[in-house]
Amino acid sequence: MEASGTFGADFRYTILGEALLSQIAIHAPYGGVYPNLAKREHENNLVPVLTECLAKAGTLTLGNSGTFDPTLLDREPTLAALLTDFLSSYAKPAIDSIAVTTGPGLEPALWVGINFAKALASAWGLPLVAVNHMEGHVLIAAATEDSVVAIEFPALSLLVSGGHTELVLSREWDDYTRIGSTRDDAAGEAFDKSARLLGIPYPGGPEISKLAAEARAENISRDIILPRPMLHEKSFDFSFSGLKTAVRREVERLQPLNDIQKKMFAREVEDAIVEVLVDKTARAAEKFAAHTIIVGGGVAANSYLKSEIHARLDSYATVLFPTPILATDNARMIAFAGYFHAQRGKFADPSLLRAQGGLRIGASTTELHEKTTHTLKL
Ligand code: KG4
Ligand code: ZN
Repeated sequence: MEASGTFGADFRYTILGEALLSQIAIHAPYGGVYPNLAKREHENNLVPVLTECLAKAGTLTLGNSGTFDPTLLDREPTLAALLTDFLSSYAKPAIDSIAVTTGPGLEPALWVGINFAKALASAWGLPLVAVNHMEGHVLIAAATEDSVVAIEFPALSLLVSGGHTELVLSREWDDYTRIGSTRDDAAGEAFDKSARLLGIPYPGGPEISKLAAEARAENISRDIILPRPMLHEKSFDFSFSGLKTAVRREVERLQPLNDIQKKMFAREVEDAIVEVLVDKTARAAEKFAAHTIIVGGGVAANSYLKSEIHARLDSYATVLFPTPILATDNARMIAFAGYFHAQRGKFADPSLLRAQGGLRIGASTTELHEKTTHTLKL
């Protein structure tokens, strides 16, 4: 990504080259991401994906771009061999900085990315920017074709992915306060686990959504009612594990399911998840007088969630969704967040970079409160 300017002002960007490698087919038999397999696949694929990306950008020229400190890839020998080959085959491209995700996520996979970024940065003499995956989801939702929209604050972000469900309030760029999050399963996980109970392979979110749309179009009547967890509670927290339990109970009661029943289940699952997400977002938007609603993460690719959020909130605030391709994990969102911090001079000390599996975005309202009380006591 080539970019200039400041977010919310004169920011402009162009994607010079982009590559995406999905491991979904490899993990599908396990019904979820299998950590050691993810680590191995990252080791094998990072150099080919980087090569493809640089080639697309037209910045891959034969030559030699030096060596890296070999201790950086002590734990990734396959990657070390591939990177050594790569560096001795191609010249250093015109890159100013490298952005890398440090969390949240699976630590074995995060470490491979971090160590790879450190090795590349050491060979090319470039600074590193540490990126929070969830911030990538927020910022990419504001992207236009060559810039970002001028966000009117306060902005409320609903972040819904395979591992996270959060409501985050921003009073300005680079300011995040978590006002709600899931107490157990994430929204994407609720889609995936319900799908699995219906015999739909991982990740089941997109297929549930397709079946649910068919059920609506075909007017299939609903014989089951699933819970809307925490819908009527005041808090902005979520809980989706009870939904999965209810799906299991109903599936066991009715099995074997025919195709019509599967569609009915899919619709009820999607209705239940979307109703809770939309209702809490709308209530939070009102409470915090949000002028902008941002929806990000893999579940933001769900077209029913998108139409329901628009229907409920368009008259109240500006609603921003990423395009479905940019809703699910991608490198562009990390480049975006990376540039955002690089432009503010926030580079990372490579020796301090760590994989942070449980990294959160912003402090929660209770954490903020605890911090304040603590300071007052001093
Ligand atoms: O953000 P993401 O790509 O990866 C994580 O950071 O977790 O989100 C993946 C999640 C999966 O749970 C997947 O089922 C869900 O997003 N997802 C969807 C749809 N597309 C992806 N859920 C519902 N409807 C969709 N169309
Ligand atoms: Zn994600």
